[in-house]
Amino acid sequence: MNIAVIGTGYVGLVTGVGFAETGNAVICVDVDVSKIDRLKRNKIPIYEPGLEPMVRRNQDEGRLSFTTDVATAVEAADIVFIAVGTPQDEDGSADLRHVLDVATVVGQHMNRPKIVVTKSTVPVGTAEKVRAAVAAQTKVGFAVASNPEFLKEGAAVQDFMKPDRVVLGVDDSETEATLRELYEPFVRTGNPILFMDIPSAEFTKYAANAMLATRITLMNQFADLCERVGANVEHVRLGIGTDERIGRAFLFPGPGYGGSCFPKDVKALVSTARGAGFPLELLESVDRVNEAHKHVPFAKVKASLGGSVRGRTIALWGLAFKAQTDDMRDSSSLIFIAEALAQGATLRVHDPKAMDEARRRLGSTVSYVESPYEALEGADALVVLTEWQEYRVLDHERAKKLLKSPVVVDGRNLYDPARMRKAGFTYASIGRI
Ligand SMILES: NC(=O)c1ccc[n+]([C@@H]2O[C@H](COP(=O)([O-])OP(=O)(O)OC[C@H]3O[C@@H](n4cnc5c(N)ncnc54)[C@H](O)[C@@H]3O)[C@@H](O)[C@H]2O)c1
Repeated sequence: MNIAVIGTGYVGLVTGVGFAETGNAVICVDVDVSKIDRLKRNKIPIYEPGLEPMVRRNQDEGRLSFTTDVATAVEAADIVFIAVGTPQDEDGSADLRHVLDVATVVGQHMNRPKIVVTKSTVPVGTAEKVRAAVAAQTKVGFAVASNPEFLKEGAAVQDFMKPDRVVLGVDDSETEATLRELYEPFVRTGNPILFMDIPSAEFTKYAANAMLATRITLMNQFADLCERVGANVEHVRLGIGTDERIGRAFLFPGPGYGGSCFPKDVKALVSTARGAGFPLELLESVDRVNEAHKHVPFAKVKASLGGSVRGRTIALWGLAFKAQTDDMRDSSSLIFIAEALAQGATLRVHDPKAMDEARRRLGSTVSYVESPYEALEGADALVVLTEWQEYRVLDHERAKKLLKSPVVVDGRNLYDPARMRKAGFTYASIGRI
């Protein structure tokens, strides 16, 4: 099949490469000239394990190309995927400007019937807006569909190539048949392709993220309560995760959820619900509680340093919102850094993959170091905010030698509290005493 993917970010790039990998002819489009130039040279603008060799192979074998020329890409395509960003608007709703701009351009280049698929995360009703924006530009017949994406950054290739399920909102049988054929190679082990009406598909993506964000937030609140009543959230996590009805995934307490999706999608669903005259009070609390919880690591380091960080140096391990990505969008590290700087601390930061992104966002407000232990040199405390593998075993002796005072705040519960204390650290984590 001939496919155009418009928007070559985390989702668009992985989608385009995934479809090329299964034998389709794919053109990926972006307005970002430098991103496209780099991709043409097989340089991947994001850190995503496994992506580079697939881009290279599919480009070399002629199934995948990159362009800023949306007209050519749309005209060559039978199926157009819209995968541009849907950031948070000022009122919390999803900003559909990019999606609808693309729909207009697609309409302008509708040289023959096509399927226009929205892959971006968009509120219920957006497919109809896309349909109207395309139709305003053309008399050629076309179909719309909704295909929300569930990939996880850091495991995006694996998730796209072997999805738990594919959700497709369609309203005609021909489109259903075409999209089934496109996705069948990805579900050969029997995972389902779930066809449904378009509004339900649009809703499903928000429902999934809202459910996961709620689960994390509830665990974070359990953690905070555990500290106050003398329980250990790690035991509680195992105790409930082994209940089949609950399951083990997504129960780790931490420094508050971040990333490019949960915060904005929770807010967008809250906004949709308010607009529908049916406020989702539970989800509104989740959003509020999560924002508050993001301040917990800073409060802990401040308390461990005697109530003030002024003039102190803090070593920070982990800037990305989670491990295996360089994405810092809405990362709790940003809250930590802003608060620490505002209260007079100096920061020495490290992340295995997000240093370029951090330099772009933070400029010269913090010091960047090349290795984790370099961050500890002369620091008053170590704070860990991302669960990167390389942070999981702390060299106690080395850390104590480098730190001015042996204070460790572990926002990911990587270390054992008893062992840390025995080794002489002043140690705080999330939900464990
Ligand atoms: N990142 C994720 O993990 C993830 C997972 C599932 C769904 N989503 C959703 O997918 C969508 C894309 O997310 P992302 O993380 O890939 O975003 P992103 O910011 O990484 O990429 C979006 C890309 O679209 C490009 N773009 C914007 N306007 C354009 C236009 N008019 N024409 C062509 N290109 C244009 C931008 O230059 C950018 O490269 C969002 O709706 C997001 O909520 C993201």
